[in-house]
Amino acid sequence: MSRFREPQHPDFRRLNSSIGFDRRLWPQDVAQSRAHVRMLADRGILSAEDRDAVLAGLEAVASELEDGRFAFREDDEDIHMAIERRLIEIAGPVGGKLHTARSRNDQVVTDLAMYTRERSVAAREAISRLMRELLARAEDHIDWPLPGYTHLQRAQPVYLAHHLLAYFWMLARDRSRFAFAEREAGRLPLGSGALAGVNFDTDRLQVARELGFAFVAPNSIDAVAGRDFILDYLGAAATCSTHLSRLGAELVLWSSAEFGFCELPDSWSSGSSIMPQKKNPDAAELLRAKAPRVVGHLAAFHGVMHGLPLTYNKDLQEDKEHLFDAADTLELSLAAATGMVARVSFNRERMREAASDELIAATDLADLLVRLGTPFREAHGVVAGLVRKAIDSGRKLSQLTPEELAEQSPTLAEHDPEYREVLSQSSWLESKVSEGGTSLARVGQQLALAKTVLDEAPSA
Ligand code: ARG
Repeated sequence: MSRFREPQHPDFRRLNSSIGFDRRLWPQDVAQSRAHVRMLADRGILSAEDRDAVLAGLEAVASELEDGRFAFREDDEDIHMAIERRLIEIAGPVGGKLHTARSRNDQVVTDLAMYTRERSVAAREAISRLMRELLARAEDHIDWPLPGYTHLQRAQPVYLAHHLLAYFWMLARDRSRFAFAEREAGRLPLGSGALAGVNFDTDRLQVARELGFAFVAPNSIDAVAGRDFILDYLGAAATCSTHLSRLGAELVLWSSAEFGFCELPDSWSSGSSIMPQKKNPDAAELLRAKAPRVVGHLAAFHGVMHGLPLTYNKDLQEDKEHLFDAADTLELSLAAATGMVARVSFNRERMREAASDELIAATDLADLLVRLGTPFREAHGVVAGLVRKAIDSGRKLSQLTPEELAEQSPTLAEHDPEYREVLSQSSWLESKVSEGGTSLARVGQQLALAKTVLDEAPSA
């Protein structure tokens, strides 16, 4: 029997159906059904015989799905209906008992919570692999100077290890964000029914334990209406992708002839269809370009949730494609970043040369004056005058004469040897002795800390 007098319009069916994308939830759906049916039998809601028949049927359905023999039908609206339909075909009418004390509303969000937990774990593991590579490369290049940039203008020299570790720390925070998303997806919605609970005295904790949920969602209305654990996942994914886009952008710049700081591995580069000499950093460019796509999923799903009355609304079906594509895109981007970082080769000479522009030591010269008692603002002006003189006369700062120094600052002229000393490259790097700074001792401390953090269980 059906309450409807006419069949669904084919276009409505296309609009309404989610089977095209939610079929990937089948492992979670089968797992929750197993746990559900066992609990029903333990509570005396289903007989042991019915339980066994349903479990055997589910086994058969799962094996068809597993090896691609499952025949989806035109009118399978979603994965939940498809599995139940096939279960009844295989096990007979007893299969219809599976949906006792359950609604698709608590069923779908339970699948999604399980899925989100799994993808959060996968993201954490992938991030750890990239962190490990960054750390290894930092150790290999601990004392290779390169310019640090602001406004993409050479600013102050740093060691390559220091620069690479900057990405390590961004990723460490990303990893914590995924640990948070995982925890947020750890409250079992199943047992909430359509929205108000179910008419049976179920044991939700038993189901939670079997499915690896830490808690039972305390409010059935919230449980079927809520998807903020997906927003948490998407938020973590958006931020992480954005970090990867910055890494990608730097690899593009650094591998250009203009910079010449590094060469990307052939296995992560492509050629040009017309220019035989070219080696293009496509993977790094795509790291840049994938980030807005993931951020778009976050923004779009916020739009879906915004102003949505409680509880379940079909709008919520739109959660899936955003979540799935964000997770696929992020994990692929992480794999690409890891592959490139693992095998990129840096050009020590090019970086050193770029970092040896004496003008980069301007702040250090100002600080020398500060140590000699000149107020910083005044020292800034003195050094600006020296820079101007050097540029105008086409010379380096170290080529200015003691007389020229004296014109700007008699104090500086009295400390001529210190002035010359400050202009040697290693002193610009080694003078950055503050905690978190670029001097070798500080970078060494940072490396040691990074090693402990890498193997720490991430905390949300
Ligand atoms: N395919 C649906 C979704 O993804 C499953 C839940 C349907 N529930 C309902 N009351 N129509 O959200």
